[in-house]
Amino acid sequence: PMNTMAFQTLRALADGAFHSGEAIAGMLGVTRSAVWYGIRDIAAAGFEIEKVRGRGYRLSRALSLLDAGRIRDLLGAGSGKFVLEVLDRVDSTNTRLMLRAAEGAPSGLVLAAEAQTAGRGRRGRAWQSAIGSTLTFSLLWRFAQGARELAGLSLAVGVALARALRASGAAGVALKWPNDVQLAGGKLAGILIEMQGDVLGPSAAVIGVGVNVRADPRVAAAVDQPLADLESASGAAVDRNQLLARMLAELAGVLEQFAGSGFAPLRAEWQQLHTFQDRPVELLLPDGESRAGIARGVAEDGALLLE
Ligand code: BTN
Repeated sequence: PMNTMAFQTLRALADGAFHSGEAIAGMLGVTRSAVWYGIRDIAAAGFEIEKVRGRGYRLSRALSLLDAGRIRDLLGAGSGKFVLEVLDRVDSTNTRLMLRAAEGAPSGLVLAAEAQTAGRGRRGRAWQSAIGSTLTFSLLWRFAQGARELAGLSLAVGVALARALRASGAAGVALKWPNDVQLAGGKLAGILIEMQGDVLGPSAAVIGVGVNVRADPRVAAAVDQPLADLESASGAAVDRNQLLARMLAELAGVLEQFAGSGFAPLRAEWQQLHTFQDRPVELLLPDGESRAGIARGVAEDGALLLE
């Protein structure tokens, strides 16, 4: 596994240019042999590194790594709504943020991580990610309402993410009820929302988001469903800091609107994004039964409407 030194070395090499071992050591304030171990660990983690005598090391492909300062700059005036923490590695940003929420962390706290060792998906599944290829973060948002009044929140979050993904090059982004974010039938992003608080309010939502930014063989090998990725869709390298800033800005707008007016004002946009709108579907129910019908969109509380 990548330790702190390996992450620091990876950050030093992320631009894809050559860096000598000596320059990296000087930059990080460590010995040349520490850098050598860092390089070894990065290579073991699956990154391709070229070594050229007289020039040093370089990554065969540049990486966009997270930088809290840049995310703040990109958020501009909106950055005041958030407290940003970028971590190298964590078990799960959702797990961590649920604990922080219980300790009284402020609304707007964002935990973003380069690597998750126990990323969680919906329905008890694991969420697979790879360093630099996936964007994984969780946002804490506090509401005066109780959890029951927040039905539809996960659909509202889907709308915010779809807006940000479209602006980042995924023109055909679509939503599958309740909140899978898809592109050309593959999974582009997933949302895991966990609630905390009293039924009558106030309550807190931990909104976890995982985005497939770059196709990665390590992720594809571990997942048994079709995947989509943002870079293939946009045909260009994606700046993960900019993507995160866009997602946070859209989330803040949608969450503020949701807190005041619920899901209703977002319903038409959700239905426009709905993969199966007015199409025949078969609904697989939790008890193993299924129902065939025409998907007619969603109600104001976020329930799926099947005709
Ligand atoms: C799903 O589609 O099943 C939801 C996937 C959610 C993954 C994200 S990654 C950041 C946050 N931390 C987690 O452990 N899960 C969510």
